[in-house]
Amino acid sequence: MIETIAELRTEIELDLQSIKDPASLEAFRLKHLVKKGTIQGLIDGMRAVPKEDKPAIGKVLNEFRQFVDTAFAQAKEHIESNDTGIEPIDVTLPGRIPNIGHVHPIRKTLDRITEIFVGMGFSVAEGIDIEDDYHNYEALNFPADHPARDMQDTFFIDDSRGDIMLRSHTSPVQIRMMKHHAPPIRSIMPGRVYRNEAVTARSLAEFHQIEGLYIDKGVTFADLKGTVISFAKQMYGEHSTFKFRPSYFPFTEPSAEVDITCYLCSGKGCRVCKHSGWLEICGCGMVHPNVLKNCGIDPEVYSGFAFGFGIERVTMLATGIDDIRALYENDMRILKQF
Ligand code: PHE
Repeated sequence: MIETIAELRTEIELDLQSIKDPASLEAFRLKHLVKKGTIQGLIDGMRAVPKEDKPAIGKVLNEFRQFVDTAFAQAKEHIESNDTGIEPIDVTLPGRIPNIGHVHPIRKTLDRITEIFVGMGFSVAEGIDIEDDYHNYEALNFPADHPARDMQDTFFIDDSRGDIMLRSHTSPVQIRMMKHHAPPIRSIMPGRVYRNEAVTARSLAEFHQIEGLYIDKGVTFADLKGTVISFAKQMYGEHSTFKFRPSYFPFTEPSAEVDITCYLCSGKGCRVCKHSGWLEICGCGMVHPNVLKNCGIDPEVYSGFAFGFGIERVTMLATGIDDIRALYENDMRILKQF
């Protein structure tokens, strides 16, 4: 009897393993648990067991029945609960925050400047990074012996020729614009520029400018002032204050530079503004009659203004970053803040 129970146990264990769906569960029940099933067969067999052996064998049989009942109940629950055996998902776990990049502060500034000028009716044009002497200097009224043409300032592409260079400012785009479009012209021209300068907290050898050009009949310095101030108030806030300072550029006459009250000390004087209370934001002026002539525009009929912003400088003013190199080091701890 004990042996029969052991054999049946092995068989039942195998059968339990093959319970995979409701059909196999039912097949198990019909084979082992119904009146004509194997378990009842064992119980019926107890009758033939000698009286003195009955308690011991009855105990083993009872244990075996309990084992089969529990195993079957478990298998049934498993099938009915549709349990797939895969760990359930803990819906209370906090989600993983995906790492999403964002626009670089330089590009953000460029986009914002563009948005403001487009809002004032300016179109956007682009030039080329490798220029010739004519567009970068000559047509812009730089005298032949102007120091800006010096190797100290300009990266020449081919030393032996000396007239092909990486543009040192975005003003050559003005020339290309005026040569190819008849006035009225109202455009901004963003781009990368290059100067042979030492990399310091305040200067880089490669940076960005945005040029503005407005040519039409009867354009005056008042239009220039109005445009630059309107832009700067939208960029830096309605309460910012500005001053126009006389300056010199070969391609504008008169020329000016525009200063804004220092964002850090509000004009009291500090390290950032070199204790002057002011920070320079752009160069500008009325387009020189020689430049208009060089581009085939009659200075007796048309006038216009031009301005140029350094995009890194604007970004530094807007973000409070006081080392220009930080904008290019790709240190996430800095970039994440803007
Ligand atoms: N091109 C000048 C510079 O790089 C800036 C400027 C642009 C000044 C337009 C006047 C008008 O410094």
